Amino acid sequence: PQVCWLAPEQTAGKQKPYMYTQGQAVLNRSFFPCFDTPSVKCTYSATVQVPEGFTAVMSATSWEKQKDNTFVFKMSQPIPSYLIALAVGDIVSADVGPRSRVWAEPCLIEAAKKEYDGVIEEFLAVGEKLFGPYVWGRYDILFMPPSFPFGGMENPCLTFVTPCLLAGDRSLVDVIIHEISHSWFGNLVTNATWGEFWLNEGFTMYAQRRISTEVYGLAYTCLEAATGRALLRQHMDNTGEDHPLNKLRVVIEPGFFFFLGVNPDDTYNETPYEKGYCFVSYLAHLVGDQKKFDAFLQAYVNQFKFQSITADDTLSFFLEYFPELKEKGVDSIPGFEFDRWLNTPGWPPYLPDLSPGEQLMRPADELAELWAADSLNMEAIEAMDITAWRTYQLVYFLDKVLEKSPLPEGNVERLSKMYPKISKAQNAELRLRWCQIVLKNNLEAEYSKVKDFLQSQGKQKYTLPIYRAMWGGSEVARALAMETFSATAPQLHVNVQNYVKKILGLEVAE
Ligand code: BES
Ligand code: ZN
Repeated sequence: PQVCWLAPEQTAGKQKPYMYTQGQAVLNRSFFPCFDTPSVKCTYSATVQVPEGFTAVMSATSWEKQKDNTFVFKMSQPIPSYLIALAVGDIVSADVGPRSRVWAEPCLIEAAKKEYDGVIEEFLAVGEKLFGPYVWGRYDILFMPPSFPFGGMENPCLTFVTPCLLAGDRSLVDVIIHEISHSWFGNLVTNATWGEFWLNEGFTMYAQRRISTEVYGLAYTCLEAATGRALLRQHMDNTGEDHPLNKLRVVIEPGFFFFLGVNPDDTYNETPYEKGYCFVSYLAHLVGDQKKFDAFLQAYVNQFKFQSITADDTLSFFLEYFPELKEKGVDSIPGFEFDRWLNTPGWPPYLPDLSPGEQLMRPADELAELWAADSLNMEAIEAMDITAWRTYQLVYFLDKVLEKSPLPEGNVERLSKMYPKISKAQNAELRLRWCQIVLKNNLEAEYSKVKDFLQSQGKQKYTLPIYRAMWGGSEVARALAMETFSATAPQLHVNVQNYVKKILGLEVAE
């Protein structure tokens, strides 16, 4: 399942084949022999020979092209196996900063350069100011073919990202800030087991939002965090709050006989991200002073860099770093026990205050209210001008509309006509929400947009919610799911294929 071989039709340029690898969580064992656990770190080197007209790139600190289309790579820092990655295709690069370039197929390189020219360095510099030195040398970005299953993958020195980020307006740059944040949390300090994946992702969400606050301000960052909280709500509603995967510390077991087992890949859901974010925010809240907490994060990275650790290591270090908190017994405050955070499924006991984002959220809340009314107050609706809204305000608005759906008969049709900026959007985050709304409201006239969106890209976090919505809908929606899946299955990553099959009740090969 590790090495993805794409035919020319599956690339943006449709001329040449492409191959790439995706290691996380436990796929690299089918790429090369290794101790495929995040608890073991090592350096690596690789020699890769490719056919004429192709370029190879890897997650490596140095890179050299030799004769006969042979590329030699070296990673001089110790990393866990899941961070070793290779891509080969018809790809070219363009500089976007003093230590950053973008890589993409020739037909996308201009768009890629335009999207991120001149912005990456600021994120790196703010990251270094907050969390300490950036130890990886370069920070480059590879735009993947559309079927890449993730928004981004933090392969050191070379983040892999979905081409959906090419929105034309930098509106999805939070994904880049997220992957950059892994340079400290995940790639330097690594979860020792996939059962504590939240140590990578929860700290990274926190770091991402710290950088975003410094660069874009608190209001915008709170708005983005509110959309993250909505995803956590949707996820918990889907799975049930008490689901064993809704704990920060998950038990990972192989399956045998009729016990299904838990594959580390199954932990890729909103809980480690957004509940993890809440726990780190709670630790910051206990400290009560942002500067002191930032200093703690930097000391934490310095203490555990190039190591793999457990949550117990993190929390003991926290209590030692703040002896006055340890003395107060903050780890056992009733209802907020560290043990409860780690081992009890369910909604986070503490939520960070997102009210600094109110000014951006309130208009969106109000507009969603208006559209949910039985008889539409068009005067009030027309008085609200959304043309200047940021993408995340629209996302927030659409999440509210989705929560209130199905809307009274006819409202969604009118909404669709009124805001082509939403219903005809090219931005993937907007398209996802619009598809969900179309399905929840049985708007059959726009079902073709659902199929188009699923055909245009294969990101897991877009694909699965839409199949869940189709399968939970009408007969027509279910038929659409089957028809779309038979048309697109071959272009999906095998993991994503298998998850869709599970949703549709189809046989999954072991
Ligand atoms: N490391 C993850 C992607 C991942 C997780 C791959 C689990 C395989 C297994 C990456 O850093 C990530 O979290 N990507 C997010 C970005 C978002 C939270 C901004 C994604 O792809 O959606
Ligand atoms: Zn991540």
